Amino acid sequence: MDKESMKKIAGQEAVKYIKDGMTVGLGTGSTVKYLLDALGARVVNENLRIIGVPTSNRSAKRARDLGIEVRSIDDVDHIDLTIDGADQIDENFQGIKGGGIAHLREKIVAINSDKNLWIVDDTKMAKNLGSFPLPLEVTPYGSTHLLKRLDKMGFNPKFRTNAKGQHVLTHADNYIIDLNLGYIEHPHELEKVLNNMTGIVEHGLFLDIVDVVIAGTSEGPKTFK
Ligand code: A5P
Repeated sequence: MDKESMKKIAGQEAVKYIKDGMTVGLGTGSTVKYLLDALGARVVNENLRIIGVPTSNRSAKRARDLGIEVRSIDDVDHIDLTIDGADQIDENFQGIKGGGIAHLREKIVAINSDKNLWIVDDTKMAKNLGSFPLPLEVTPYGSTHLLKRLDKMGFNPKFRTNAKGQHVLTHADNYIIDLNLGYIEHPHELEKVLNNMTGIVEHGLFLDIVDVVIAGTSEGPKTFK
């Protein structure tokens, strides 16, 4: 089965966790797109009253187009559940996010949610983290020096650029540096190091955050709680 079909399976399974009246954090990415499609259909068919809190302009637009009410995180009291994609999930359900440059907003929404659910295609489930490059959102000011420091630390950093070689910009007009680590042996130790580095606005390690993971597989959805 192809990846798109597996993403769709995960998105369509996750929508079942959304109940009438909920405020729902809406993640970002190609897997979340399937969730939004399924949620939009439920909102219309079942007349659900859902408030969506999107983590990116892309998800906000998509949700609005589908008839889902959208509010900013600062305009809601609380978030019942956030459903988001992920780039890699290890066997302890720790994750890497930020492949789609939205991890700063995604982490803010995630830590302010009662529950977090991730949806992925099966290929993203791994024994360890690190084969997917770890994204950092960094302030442009001083970022060349930050890159050098990260390089000296052996983190194999690279600015993320577009096809024209220009810096990719985040929602907050920051840059992205991807760390090509290969294998992250101690995610919590790395998290501490990155949390303490001036110039890093947020990193893509999402540790001890997720409650439920739904992986789309060729045999159907697999749920891990
Ligand atoms: C956005 O920055 C990311 O954290 C996404 O959630 C992640 O990249 C998953 O995206 P896909 O579903 O497109 O793989």
